[in-house]
Amino acid sequence: SVYSISALIAAYLFGSIPSAVWIGQAFYGIDVREYGSGNAGATNTFRVLGKKAGITVMTIDILKGFTATNLAYLIGLSVTGPQHSIQFVNYQLALGITAVMGHLFPIFAGFRGGKGIATLFGMVLAVHLNAALFCVTVFLFVLLVSKYVSLSSIAAGFSFPLSIIFVFHSPLRSIVLYGMCICILILVTHQKNIERLLRGKESKVNMFRKKTG
Ligand code: G3P
Repeated sequence: SVYSISALIAAYLFGSIPSAVWIGQAFYGIDVREYGSGNAGATNTFRVLGKKAGITVMTIDILKGFTATNLAYLIGLSVTGPQHSIQFVNYQLALGITAVMGHLFPIFAGFRGGKGIATLFGMVLAVHLNAALFCVTVFLFVLLVSKYVSLSSIAAGFSFPLSIIFVFHSPLRSIVLYGMCICILILVTHQKNIERLLRGKESKVNMFRKKTG
């Protein structure tokens, strides 16, 4: 319907809010895409501008995914049937992925955005709280052991569909299907990171370092 199409457009516009680029430009006078990994995301903001900016960008990017996914509630009942029905979750996932597309290709920042991990997390948070907590645990564990954010993101991404199948035994097959698509998406967006990881050239996090040039 016209409502669901409007919600998808709104989800894309939400996702398109280039928090890393705007915060860098507004408060630090730089475009984070010209430094560090060149990515317009929370990790690179943390890397280039420090903890305060990084956490702010991460929070906004999570909220983008969470809000866009929950747009389903605005019209979900009238358009797609009872809440938590298969159609409803499908619609939530479609909205979340659309927001992630906005984050990857933001209309407000020349279509050069980030890798979508925080926004994906916001979506998972809205769709399946326990799976989100499971993914965070995997993320933090891999980060603690490896110190690579990219590797932690990839591991957390794969743990999403796997946890839906093996831990939560959810009957919602579409979550698994979307989850597998998300895994592929994460591999695509992290191609350069994977190359660097394999060459031993990926940068590690350093909690005590404030800025890099
Ligand atoms: O969330 C993105 C992260 O997985 C990698 O970011 O800047 O290290 O490429 P970056």
